[in-house]
Amino acid sequence: MTNCAALWIDRTDINITRQVTTELPELIDGQVLVAIDKFGLTANNVSYAVTGDSIGYWQFYPAQDNWGIVPVWGCATVIESSCADIPVGDRLWGYFPMASHAVLTPGNIHADYFVDVVEHRRELPPVYNQFRRTKAEPEFLQQLENERCLLFPLFMTSYLIYDYLIDNEFFGAQQVVIGSVSSKTGFGLAQMLHNDPEVTQSVIGVTSPGNVDFVKGLGCCDQIVLYKNEAEIDASVSTAYVDMSGDARLTISLHNHLEDKIVESCMVGGSHWQEGGKVGELPGARPRFFFAPGQIEKRNKEWGPGVAMVNAMTASAKVAALVADDIQVQWVEGSVRLADHWAALLDNKIPPSTGLMVTF
Ligand SMILES: NC(=O)c1ccc[n+]([C@@H]2O[C@H](COP(=O)([O-])OP(=O)(O)OC[C@H]3O[C@@H](n4cnc5c(N)ncnc54)[C@H](OP(=O)(O)O)[C@@H]3O)[C@@H](O)[C@H]2O)c1
Repeated sequence: MTNCAALWIDRTDINITRQVTTELPELIDGQVLVAIDKFGLTANNVSYAVTGDSIGYWQFYPAQDNWGIVPVWGCATVIESSCADIPVGDRLWGYFPMASHAVLTPGNIHADYFVDVVEHRRELPPVYNQFRRTKAEPEFLQQLENERCLLFPLFMTSYLIYDYLIDNEFFGAQQVVIGSVSSKTGFGLAQMLHNDPEVTQSVIGVTSPGNVDFVKGLGCCDQIVLYKNEAEIDASVSTAYVDMSGDARLTISLHNHLEDKIVESCMVGGSHWQEGGKVGELPGARPRFFFAPGQIEKRNKEWGPGVAMVNAMTASAKVAALVADDIQVQWVEGSVRLADHWAALLDNKIPPSTGLMVTF
C-alpha cells in the first residue's frame, strides 16, 4: 500500500484547505501508479479552483463531499505498473492532482504520449488527458522540466492567443491591450507580439503599481498603464483587448473609454479572482471567453493533429529562455507549506518575479 499526501480545497470556499493522507488501493489491470515529484503553482491554478464547478476542473481528480483537488502541471515517474506498455521508470509531464501520487489508466499509447482513458475523464477536454512520455522527447525538452511545469502551460496559452489574433488579422486592431500583463500568460503574449517583426500593433500592458518595474524590465510593452488610469490609452485607435485579470471594473472602464474602437474583447483569465462579476451591455465588441483547448482543436483540424502543440511548445521555450533571469524559482516543500503558499497566492502576495515550484 502507498500513502498519498494531498492538499484538498473546499469547493465552497477556496480559502479553506485540508491536508489529507490516504492509502492508495492496489492497482487493477491496465493502471499505473506515479510519484509526482514537482509541479508549478500560479494564479492559473487558482482560476481552476474558482471555475472548478462551472468549467469542470474538479472532475479530473475527484475528492469527497465538498472537497476538491486542484489540477496542476507537473512531472512524475511511474513507480508501479500493471500496464504492459508503460514500464516502471517512465517519466511523465502532464496534468496531475495537487498530491504526491496519482493512479492513471493509460490508453492510446504512443512512444511519446498516452491518454488517461479512465471513465470519469472521457468527457473532459482532451488536452488535459494527454501525458507526455518525456524520455522519448528531444533532449532539450528533457532539460526544461521546471520550465514545463511552471511556464509552458501559460506560455502555450500565450501562443494560442497570439495565433488567434494573427489568424483573425487582429480583428483590424492597431493596438493590443493586455490586462494583468505581469502574469505569465500576459507577458508571454506581450513577448510574442513584441518579438514578431511582422506584428505592427503596439502592445499596451495594464498592471498594478507594485508590478510596473517587473513589467518594464521585461521590455515587451510599448506602454504600461496602471489600473484606474485606463484613460491614458489612446482611444482613437482600434484596439484588441485581451484580459487575464477577469476584473469586471477594468473591462467596463476600458470598453467605456475606447467604445467602438474595441474590435475584440477576449476574456482569457481571472487572476483578480475576487473582482469578477457581470459587465452588462458595453460599447465595442462583445467580450467573449477564450478557451485555449478550443483553439488547439481548431488548429488540429486545419494544421494536422499535434502541430499547434509543437508550435506552442517551441514558442514557449523561446520565451522561457528570454525571461530566465527575470523569474526566480522558489521551492515549496510538503503540504503544510503548500497550504501557506496557496493562501499567499489567493491574497496576491506572490510577486511576478517568483515562480513557485512544489514538491511533496
Ligand atoms: N483560458 C485559458 O485557457 C487560460 C490558460 C492559461 C491561463 N489562463 C488564465 O490567465 C490568468 C493568469 O494566469 P498565470 O498563471 O499566468 O498568472 P501568474 O503568473 O500567477 O500571475 C501573477 C499576476 O496576476 C495578478 N494577480 C495574481 N493574484 C492576484 C490576486 N489574488 N489579486 C489580484 N491580482 C492578482 C498580478 O498581476 P497584475 O498586478 O499585473 O494584475 C500578478 O502579478 C489566470 O486567471 C489563468 O487562469 C487562462
